[in-house]
Amino acid sequence: MDKQTVISAKHLKKAFGKGESIQVIYSDLNIDIYKGDFTVIMGSSGAGKSTLMYSLSGMDKPDGGEIHFDGTDITKLNNDRLAVFRRKQCGFVFQQIYLIDKMNLMDNVITAGVLTSKDREDIKTRAKELFSLVNIPEKTWRKTSSQISGGEAQRAGIVRAVINSPNVLFADEPTGALNSANSGAVLDVFTSLHQKGQSIVMVTHDKKSALRGNRIIYIKDGKIFGECDLEEFEQDNTERTEKLDKFIKEMGW
Ligand SMILES: Nc1ncnc2c1ncn2[C@@H]1O[C@H](COP(=O)(O)OP(=O)(O)OP(=O)(O)O)[C@@H](O)[C@H]1O
Ligand SMILES: [Mg+2]
Repeated sequence: MDKQTVISAKHLKKAFGKGESIQVIYSDLNIDIYKGDFTVIMGSSGAGKSTLMYSLSGMDKPDGGEIHFDGTDITKLNNDRLAVFRRKQCGFVFQQIYLIDKMNLMDNVITAGVLTSKDREDIKTRAKELFSLVNIPEKTWRKTSSQISGGEAQRAGIVRAVINSPNVLFADEPTGALNSANSGAVLDVFTSLHQKGQSIVMVTHDKKSALRGNRIIYIKDGKIFGECDLEEFEQDNTERTEKLDKFIKEMGW
């Protein structure tokens, strides 16, 4: 089956600083992201994983190159149009989720939903389905963020991130601040979303998180240093785990 490209980035350039203190993150990076894939970006600390994710999602502009996102070169959009693009096309999950504490979880999600859709009832129906998918019961969606656990907040944050059915869900170390049980629950949510067809791009240091993906990209020296295709995630599939282990070892992890 031919894969459909959702993001095609060509000749990306990005540097920080100027003159003698310039730090080139990448000078000619090329990457394609495919629809329906759970793409994982790995690499050592400082390799430029987050920087790349910010560029691909239009959170930050590269210094040069093109990023065709569903046919639009987002590097050509002005800031207003870029903000509209992000709201419609992208969902974001970070290590720490900031929910509005004056509102309960459901209202947080509805507030995000009405940014792109006018049908409040429709949004509420989808929110209920998503809360159920992430295992947050009705009594909890009536609580505010100060009344819930870190794991619940992260799961509610994922609901908010996908309420507008984003073309691509971007996640940067989404389990970075969680203990192992909560991490597992959050990763299960990513797996469920992927199984429902959600395209995901996730940056991670963590092998357990990376194992959830079907395509692992390793960034090193400002380039795609290597990539590895994995079968769909399955619990306790040792062959698959060994394949990832071998790959990241080859990459110099
Ligand atoms: N706004 C900025 N100004 C200056 N330097 C920056 C800025 N953002 C990132 N950098 C530098 O660019 C490099 C790549 O940063 P980036 O955050 O993309 O790395 P990373 O691969 O995500 O690392 P980590 O795994 O630690 O999160 C780092 O050396 C960082 O210090
Ligand atoms: Mg990072």
